[in-house]
Amino acid sequence: MTAKLNVNIDHVATIREARKTIEPSIITAAVVCEQAGAHGITVHLRQDRRHIQDRDIELLRDVVTTYLNVEMAATEEMLNIALKTKPDAVSLVPESPNEITTEGGLDVVKNFENIKSVVEKLKAAGIFVSIFIDPNLEQIEAAKKAGAQQIELCTAEYAELTLSARAAHGEGAEKAETEVERIKTSAARAKTLGLIIAAGHGLTYRNISALAAIPEITEFNIGHNIISRSVFVGLNQAVKEMIEAVKQS
Ligand code: PXP
Repeated sequence: MTAKLNVNIDHVATIREARKTIEPSIITAAVVCEQAGAHGITVHLRQDRRHIQDRDIELLRDVVTTYLNVEMAATEEMLNIALKTKPDAVSLVPESPNEITTEGGLDVVKNFENIKSVVEKLKAAGIFVSIFIDPNLEQIEAAKKAGAQQIELCTAEYAELTLSARAAHGEGAEKAETEVERIKTSAARAKTLGLIIAAGHGLTYRNISALAAIPEITEFNIGHNIISRSVFVGLNQAVKEMIEAVKQS
């Protein structure tokens, strides 16, 4: 079965916030993505509100008809927003104030009690819970124990290894293959634990195929590369091309 694509539209809001104005509209972006065939819309409500704002979540909740996945840190403030706005899914992610983007998976082992308590409250409110973790067996087991229904495997390492043309040859290619194996093994282990498996971070039209070929991965969350391409071909076309890229593995 082909994996689903949730489009992360954070960077539409990044452009809007560059001028603190009203355009481009995050709502139009969500509707265009859905009309192009996206299976869901993902946004990250960061503690510093550098792109998505609280009001965006409220508006998106009213407009998104497919699936609204909100990425957030496991804090009291974010938990309250989720319980109030009720997205279809919450993905718990780590966050540090000066990072350019999410820097890796959440350390569920280290922050187990807090994460478990947040997961329980979200689930009690009927919200589906995913945890963004590195492809690491200890973290997968901890995520399961914490009550997550899904894990999202962090593909940042794979993205880094496949970023440049040079990386696609020789030693670089071998390292990328080893990372694909690590993701495969992780996905297989997570499946035996009854978890649903997503993946994301730094995925592109160029590097998606090796991961789209892993049958256990049933969802991808992709943002920056799609929004970048949309500058040149439009958002509708950019989303359609990524859906095709996921399919072609
Ligand atoms: N998944 C998670 C958990 C993320 O934090 C991000 C970045 O916000 C993405 C997926 C999407 O990453 P990218 O924008 O690099 O496609």
